[in-house]
Amino acid sequence: MKIGLFSDPHYCDKDMVSGGRYHALSYGKIKEAMDSFKKEGVGLVICLGDLVDDCGNEQENIRSIKKITELIDSYGIKFYSLMGNHDYQNFTREEFNRYTNGAYPPFSLELDDAILVFLDCNYEDTGKIYEVGKVDWTNTFLPNDQLLSLEKVLSKDSEKNIIIFSHQIIEEGLDNNHTVRNAKDIRALISSCGRVTEVIQGHYHPGHDEIINNVRYHTLPAMCEGKENRFECFEIVK
Ligand SMILES: [Fe+2]
Repeated sequence: MKIGLFSDPHYCDKDMVSGGRYHALSYGKIKEAMDSFKKEGVGLVICLGDLVDDCGNEQENIRSIKKITELIDSYGIKFYSLMGNHDYQNFTREEFNRYTNGAYPPFSLELDDAILVFLDCNYEDTGKIYEVGKVDWTNTFLPNDQLLSLEKVLSKDSEKNIIIFSHQIIEEGLDNNHTVRNAKDIRALISSCGRVTEVIQGHYHPGHDEIINNVRYHTLPAMCEGKENRFECFEIVK
């Protein structure tokens, strides 16, 4: 099965540029990505988080997320978006999932050829979920209940490979502000499982690729940076 991936579009329905981030251009970039995914016959599209950004006005933020979801849904391909720290600037988890017609991460999905695990690391290291509009993006953490459910999925008696999706970074050494504070605990679970083939992430806008204990930690470069587009078609290998 093929999966369409993109990360960090930071979409805003407003002609806004911050740093090198061209927020409004992400509408056309997502359209180009979806056209390509459709042509490639992907069965599932995943955004690695920061789907939207703060336009500075609550009603505009709602309009932006509805507009981008309507575009994605028009292709008729199942779509999941992780939440990123910027999504939490605008919306609670419940609101975000309602507007994107999504499912609540954390959850896992058993496909014919693999098990996909979606994590939500939008927590402070006290275990408190991010408060809308008051996000410290450098303080990111996977709470205990998710660690336990990850452990449960990883220890399940199955032959299937496992792919983990997280907005925030689970390896060390890129720029540790982007790394989940208890990433070491998560990596220990992943390494001991032996069936996790990939950890796919966003958040670190330059992107990165690294193999640790036979697991590929793959960080997609951000779609919003610059005027060129970035997305990829990922084939699940049995
Ligand atoms: Fe981002």
